[in-house]
Amino acid sequence: MTVTLDRHGSVAVLTIDNPPVNALKTAVRARLFDLAAQIEADASVSAIVLCGAGKLFVGGADIAEFDRPPEDPTLPDLIARIEAATKPWVAAIHGSALGGGLELALACHARVASPGATLGLPEVNLGIIPGAGGTQRLPRLIGLAAAIPVVAERDMLDTTRAAALGLVDRIIDGPLVDGAVAFASGLSTLPTPARSRPLQDPGPAFWEAAAARMSKAAKGQTAPPAALAALRYGLDHAVEAGLRHERETFLSLRSSAESAALRYLFFAERAAPRPAALRGVAPRDIASVGILGGGTMGSGIAAAVRNAGLSVVLSERDPAALEKGLGTVKCIFDAAARRGLSTEAEATARMAGVTGCIGLEGLSGCDLVIEAVFEDLAVKRAVFADLARLCRPEAILATNTSYIDPRAIAEGLPSPDRFIGLHFFSPAQVMKLLEIIPIPDTAPDVLAAAFDLARRLGKVPVQSGICEGFIGNRILKRYRAEAEVMLRTGVSPADIDAAMRGFGYAMGPFEMQDMAGLDISFMNREAARARGENVPETPGDLLVRAGRKGMKTGGGWYDYAAGDRTPRPSDEAQQIIAPLIGPRTSLPADQIVERLVGAMATEGQAILDEGIAASPAEIDLVQVHGYGFPRTKGGPMFQITRKAKP
Ligand code: 3HC
Ligand code: NAI
Repeated sequence: MTVTLDRHGSVAVLTIDNPPVNALKTAVRARLFDLAAQIEADASVSAIVLCGAGKLFVGGADIAEFDRPPEDPTLPDLIARIEAATKPWVAAIHGSALGGGLELALACHARVASPGATLGLPEVNLGIIPGAGGTQRLPRLIGLAAAIPVVAERDMLDTTRAAALGLVDRIIDGPLVDGAVAFASGLSTLPTPARSRPLQDPGPAFWEAAAARMSKAAKGQTAPPAALAALRYGLDHAVEAGLRHERETFLSLRSSAESAALRYLFFAERAAPRPAALRGVAPRDIASVGILGGGTMGSGIAAAVRNAGLSVVLSERDPAALEKGLGTVKCIFDAAARRGLSTEAEATARMAGVTGCIGLEGLSGCDLVIEAVFEDLAVKRAVFADLARLCRPEAILATNTSYIDPRAIAEGLPSPDRFIGLHFFSPAQVMKLLEIIPIPDTAPDVLAAAFDLARRLGKVPVQSGICEGFIGNRILKRYRAEAEVMLRTGVSPADIDAAMRGFGYAMGPFEMQDMAGLDISFMNREAARARGENVPETPGDLLVRAGRKGMKTGGGWYDYAAGDRTPRPSDEAQQIIAPLIGPRTSLPADQIVERLVGAMATEGQAILDEGIAASPAEIDLVQVHGYGFPRTKGGPMFQITRKAKP
């Protein structure tokens, strides 16, 4: 049953029951639509309470239906019927009322809510705007100043704020349905529906400020400015026209490539933490985490782990390195407090939960140790041999290696079943991706613990098989190689970077290399040459040999003025690499993008064929959450699949 009807005296209680989130799929809308007519005609009903079963009111329209044309009755049809009722409808909200769920509540004549509920219109996250009156009814209830952040800027209201703004008419502390029935029974007149309430124009300065915020925060996304425009339209043309305009915009955005990409990622992100193979496997417990190495990665991982409430022990080789590592962790917590992401007291408490030690003995009590020492097989093997001896037998041992085969690191360890790769991305306290790399011996509860850790850290976990660079760095290598092929045929770094920025990356491949430094990959190539491998000279080698290692040396592919990170095209760099570069040529931006995204997708397909990744969506999650692939474009595999569609 999608919607149940109970009677509490003369009050009809309708409960939407469509697990897991009571999404308003066609069957739910149709049943509510019929029940609304039936109740309206029933003289024994004086009022209606609308609530949700389970842990929330309604999570929104059913996003899975957005790939097909809307089916009748649409949500606006249902809402119009409720709004036109001659008896009061009261929405009883607990958990969440999101998107179409909040729009349904806005159609009701009043709203009551349990403490701690969340009310919001997160449609812009899916590349759409509210499509069932949210842009018109919400501002008429709470004013434009409060409505704009909710509709266009992802602001969520909790019960207390919603009540203060007039969106919630009463907070019900006890049992919600009983409170809602009592509230509905006490309504002596039909409250004015939200759509009929007046709307104040906050004036031009207000709109200008909102538009400026939007263009800064939207980062090339279409929906936030469209949501703002819909709010404005409803003010300028009144509610009826506003509703029509909103619906047209919603329908048009719903069929856009951008929304398809964002919906695809929505489902991929939800599926990622729960791989089918681990169903029913209880994760091994992790309460305390040891981090070995307090450099770039170790300090970031320590902060990420501690931010999730776990206690951390950071181990370094000597007092100076430990002091530096702990100092970096403190800087991360302090910076978060400065930016308002935590309070100063929280920053202090977080740092208090990070202790330091020299050597490995201090890690012996940890449930999990994550190794982030130098990328050197011998060094890593030595520390794991010690850890295996010192740590409790059930403690999990993990490596953050970027490239080394984890099987080689674990070779000879007494219980390799507790060994796993956990590949974080820099900066580890920020980047959402966690590549999880089990070795053949890894125990299922250790693998489950890695996924559980990702959930607690707010990371997106993707399991990778073993190959050079795992999923992400292997594709990155191919991406860079293709960029270099274009460079060698005479396309300038600036053209290539501009094309990728135009596509949605924050920076192009050459700017990225300048930021990260050209010397590390140069040293890797030199090491391979020293081993006798045939690694031909690259333009990057010429730059490093000329002292141009990137931003940190004032120049790499580009020049940089002191203290300025703006890349400036460099004649000097062009001259240095000239021996390896063809005559200057240009390619249209869309062709540059097509080649680079195509190269990534080709590598992705090889990764799938080899069983390194389980699905194209997981490859796309790696690209979006670890490598800056624009979210609005879904990922290389998504791009290629769409292109292949007739
Ligand atoms: N439609 C379809 N499926 C949905 C859904 C929705 N609106 N919201 C969640 N789901 C599915 C998820 O895909 C997941 O499925 P799975 O179990 O098969 O993987 C399952 O419900 C549970 O989702 P979560 O893991 O996210 O559950 P949580 O308890 O952590 O969170 C939630 C619940 C806060 C409701 C969260 O799911 C959420 O934010 N959902 C999306 C809310 C949203 O964007 N609503 C707007 C939709 S568009 C709309 O309403 C248009 C309207 O204006 C016309
Ligand atoms: P780093 O050089 O910044 O830090 C390494 C730290 O390990 C140093 O502080 C060093 O003192 C410490 N260390 C070395 N041997 C030790 C020992 N025996 N005991 C305790 N501490 C010891 O290196 P970084 O960049 O943090 O890399 C660490 C690991 O993470 C490497 O395996 C690297 O491949 C991997 N990685 C690096 C990424 C990056 O962007 N830098 C991204 C993802 C993984």
